[in-house]
Amino acid sequence: METERPVMAVTWPKAPRDVVSRLQQAGTVKLWAGSLPPTPEELAELAGDANALLCTSNERIDARLLERCPRLKIVATASVGYDHLDLKALTERGIAASNVPGVLTETVADTTWGLIIAAVRRLGEGDRYVRGGEWKVVGLDVMVGLDIHGGTLGIIGYGRIGQAVARRAAGFDMTVYHHDREPGDDEHSTWKPLDELLSISDVVTLHAPLTPQTHHLISARELALMKPTAVLVNTARGALVDQVALAEALRTGELFAAALDVFEEEPIPADDPILQLPNCMATPHIGSASSRTRGKTVSLAADNILAGLAGQPLLTPLNPEVQPASSGAT
Ligand code: DGY
Repeated sequence: METERPVMAVTWPKAPRDVVSRLQQAGTVKLWAGSLPPTPEELAELAGDANALLCTSNERIDARLLERCPRLKIVATASVGYDHLDLKALTERGIAASNVPGVLTETVADTTWGLIIAAVRRLGEGDRYVRGGEWKVVGLDVMVGLDIHGGTLGIIGYGRIGQAVARRAAGFDMTVYHHDREPGDDEHSTWKPLDELLSISDVVTLHAPLTPQTHHLISARELALMKPTAVLVNTARGALVDQVALAEALRTGELFAAALDVFEEEPIPADDPILQLPNCMATPHIGSASSRTRGKTVSLAADNILAGLAGQPLLTPLNPEVQPASSGAT
């Protein structure tokens, strides 16, 4: 009896050709063609008959969508964060899920340092100042920022990316502290309780996953603990920070500056009050956006799908208790 070829839905139209070809060797690939990510309705249509879905953090994979995708057996997100996946709903339906830990660690750590330097030395502001024709004199008081070297770095969330950020701090002669659920030090950083870390750090950078427990981890109370000369950097998830409280702290000078790659709503509306503040630098969720790393993330997501379709355990599973059945086509 001939087995049916599995159907794979892929939501990223620019997925590298070689990755798409590898998937095509295993079955039929339905590649999303829109210039914007699919809406929930469009996603349900794309993945309605699929056995596997390769998605990004733009798509919410919840019970409502899964109701409409009865054949789905594997969901592989090309992101390390997985707050957009309802893991409980996936597991209840016997759908194996994976993310892409490891492959984007160093790239996100690089971006984080770019934002740290930009915030502390006012690089975004300086760029706008020059382009806006405001630069009239090479003055000693023009765009004066703070120093990074010799300062104190506070890392919240000490997984792979937090640790990669800590390693880079040695080049700036910084004292490094971190906060994570479990206390524990390593050669690069010393664990501190959250409130203490906030009050002693010159730079606070966020690397925790978004969960119900970390939602608005940094709110008005926590911002008030920080030094008025401190900067806050977020390359993790926007909702770790109460954005309204942050805008107020930046506006009143309670905080020196922030550099944000992620926002509570993405894309952030251009008229959001926080974007009107000169001491807030914003980038469009590009922490892992180097071409090589993008390729690696999509490739690992595809490898997870291919393993699952072959009845093998996923390489980087989120719910390893779910074992995909061979072929995936039902
Ligand atoms: C990730 O991998 O989680 C990045 O933030 C992209 O979504």
